[in-house]
Amino acid sequence: MAQYAILPDQPVADMDAYVAAGGGRGLERAVELGPEATVERIKAAGLRGRGGAGFPTGLKWGSVRDAASEPGSTPYVACNAAEGEPGTYKDRRLMANNPFALVEGVLIAASVLEAPESFIAVKYHYTHEIGRLVTAQEQAIKADWPGADRLQIVPGPDDYLFGEEKALLEVIEGKLAMPRLLPPFQVGLFATMAAPNPTVANNVETFCHAAAIMAEGPEAFRSVGTEDSPGTMIFTIVGDVERPGTYEMPLGITLRELLVDIAGAQDPKAILSGTSNPVGPAGHLDVPCCFKALSDAGFGLGSGGFIVYGQQRDMVQIAERMAAFLAAESCGQCTACKLGNADMAERLGLLVRGEGTPEDVEEIKKRTEHVSDAARCFLPTGSAFTIRSIIDVFPEEFAERAQGVPSPPEVAVPVPKINSLDETTGEVVYAQKEY
Ligand SMILES: Cc1cc2nc3c(=O)[nH]c(=O)nc-3n(C[C@H](O)[C@H](O)[C@H](O)COP(=O)(O)O)c2cc1C
Ligand code: SF4
Repeated sequence: MAQYAILPDQPVADMDAYVAAGGGRGLERAVELGPEATVERIKAAGLRGRGGAGFPTGLKWGSVRDAASEPGSTPYVACNAAEGEPGTYKDRRLMANNPFALVEGVLIAASVLEAPESFIAVKYHYTHEIGRLVTAQEQAIKADWPGADRLQIVPGPDDYLFGEEKALLEVIEGKLAMPRLLPPFQVGLFATMAAPNPTVANNVETFCHAAAIMAEGPEAFRSVGTEDSPGTMIFTIVGDVERPGTYEMPLGITLRELLVDIAGAQDPKAILSGTSNPVGPAGHLDVPCCFKALSDAGFGLGSGGFIVYGQQRDMVQIAERMAAFLAAESCGQCTACKLGNADMAERLGLLVRGEGTPEDVEEIKKRTEHVSDAARCFLPTGSAFTIRSIIDVFPEEFAERAQGVPSPPEVAVPVPKINSLDETTGEVVYAQKEY
């Protein structure tokens, strides 16, 4: 049996090429087995969501299906293709190289839920990926894939919050990317008081794995990875590494194998997995990359995007860039989040310029304890983890800035929000938006 993988080396040219390589069998199998057995197959594989939280996908599909059995409720499927986490590019790579697998995965979920419509919500400026998705859908309609004609590709804004699942549903409904109160399984698409319309929202990579699991079987998926985190993950590695890129690897690979051996990091000082987790344990490179081990190590797998910082980097400046990004992206519906993130960014700016004091450091620490009070979404939880952990792991750098020593300008770093990552050369272009 070939090694399990979902990301082809070369872009899949068209539906004929996809089918010739075995594509389409997952949807066929799902239709043949029916909803209950399909959910059982996804559960047996142990697939966990690849959008950040690692929630078990089979459990999500099963519970949304149960919730949708209430009279008057209409279930929907939404694919989260907003990909806005700094340091992540894998969803764009998948959509560009294998849009057919994504369409297939979404239609499998739609068949499980017996959803009248399904949606792929994607940033409007991912024009190449949208083009590939449109072609894949057109060819899926021609190939009579069930549900392909009831799939909508919805372009959305360049906001970080667009990728938050409750905001994603708002965008699909034509509103702003501001998270609603309740999660998609409770208040889904086009919900009313009488009809909650529970909705499955999953990440691009999660749907692609679902298609492969339906075609290849749970054993093939479990033939790689760990007991807790089976399968492969498409890691994005950028920052101070010799070979930035997207790499599909079995979960359980160590940080050292991934960052040092594969991507060519040399003596990393810090690692961030997006802006939702504490700063990574550069001294613990032998930790396996799986949901449990990384979280036990005080880090997090997130959506598999790792930003590596070399010894030359100034960690106060990195904390300031991340805080400025999060403060700007906070939508302002929750007071502690908007004010707390803005205050942290401002005080970190003072420290970077050598104008801050030890009291600023203490105030930032206090802010991290309250920034997520009464929050509708996890954005401020992420900022608290990120900022507080950088202060705790690098206290001497903050103490120096608080004594009036500014950050060195030559190591200024952009917020590593990726605009493009060339597959062949590894060249990374970061977004130019100023925060
Ligand atoms: C601020 C914020 C931004 C997020 N951005 C993304 C994103 O760009 N893509 C994504 O798939 N999930 C993102 N998520 C996670 C989603 O809310 C959700 O958990 C995920 O889409 C569920 O899919 P999964 O179960 O397949 O992982 C974000 C969460 C937060 C709090
Ligand atoms: S927690 Fe922050 S980002 Fe999330 S909804 Fe509230 S204000 Fe907006």
